[in-house]
Amino acid sequence: MPQSLVNRCRALPAGSTLCILGAGFTGRRVASLADALKTRVITTRRNPEPGSGALRFDSAHSVVPTEADLKGVTHLLSTIPPGPDETDPVLQSLGPQLGQLPLRWAGYLSTTGIYGDTGGDWVSETDAPQPTQERSRRRLICEQQWLNSDLPVQILRLPGIYGPGRSPFAAVQAGNLKPVNKPGQVFSRVHVDDIAAACLHLMHCSAAGQHPPVVNICDHEPAPSHLLQRHAADLLNCDLPEARDYADAEADMSAMARSFWAENRRVSNDLLCRTLGYNMIHPNYRSGLVQCLEEERLRGMLTQTAQD
Ligand SMILES: NC(=O)c1ccc[n+]([C@@H]2O[C@H](COP(=O)([O-])OP(=O)(O)OC[C@H]3O[C@@H](n4cnc5c(N)ncnc54)[C@H](OP(=O)(O)O)[C@@H]3O)[C@@H](O)[C@H]2O)c1
Repeated sequence: MPQSLVNRCRALPAGSTLCILGAGFTGRRVASLADALKTRVITTRRNPEPGSGALRFDSAHSVVPTEADLKGVTHLLSTIPPGPDETDPVLQSLGPQLGQLPLRWAGYLSTTGIYGDTGGDWVSETDAPQPTQERSRRRLICEQQWLNSDLPVQILRLPGIYGPGRSPFAAVQAGNLKPVNKPGQVFSRVHVDDIAAACLHLMHCSAAGQHPPVVNICDHEPAPSHLLQRHAADLLNCDLPEARDYADAEADMSAMARSFWAENRRVSNDLLCRTLGYNMIHPNYRSGLVQCLEEERLRGMLTQTAQD
């Protein structure tokens, strides 16, 4: 957790408790930030490591935290994706319990996939969702269920999430990254530290009376993935194969990978940054990759090279 991230964020008011349902990649980072700000944090996982302090919550196996576990929770963040059916797993298994809490803010991490394909055009929160994938359709149903709950919900729509431990560096070093270029195609993305800091920012905005129901959290610069991968290789001073044409690469891709390449959009962060005054820590992938490299080196996640 970079100290600069902690320094630029404000703790929640005294007496607040933040509960993060699903302390996976993003949930853990939000929890670490809140903890560093001395805000009380409760987290859940399906199979928490003994001694981690996380509660056990697994909606698929009806394992839920008790009322006593969640007592006093004032802020809630759900990172838990839709299950196989059309009901949000959290609302289905914990909904009535959440309704009893003194909640001031309830964030739901969703995806910009619900916007579908705009052919590369910009898209914002005021555009009607046009999901093309089945998983995005289910996501939109979960969003609606959160919005229809009586909780103080804010839907946070995210594009591809990257950060330390979810960056191209290890794959570049291992020599198994195969860049692909589809002319005109871009991807929006967000560094995990911006999700964490934006969540805190949005909780404070909400307390001050600014609470739009849906907010995109993404950086300023949608870009082709092969440019990001090339930049990562340059930062490591490693070789990277030339990008292959999508038309040649498509046959070797999984159905999931093809589904990502089937949608092309530029997601706007104007609401978050202009209206709500959030200042991106990593406005583009170049800034975000530098942070990932620094932290991955510190954590010993990369092979040492002569320059390290
Ligand atoms: N990854 C991306 O690029 C991306 C892009 C847009 C949106 N999103 C969405 O943003 C959210 C956060 O993403 P992430 O990458 O941080 O996700 P992640 O690392 O996979 O974390 C998801 C969390 O949800 C928990 N979980 C899953 N199913 C559950 C269930 N049935 N009952 C209880 N807990 C359950 C997981 O538990 P365990 O910790 O036990 O595994 C984990 O803590 C997710 O909803 C994801 O779909 C992700």
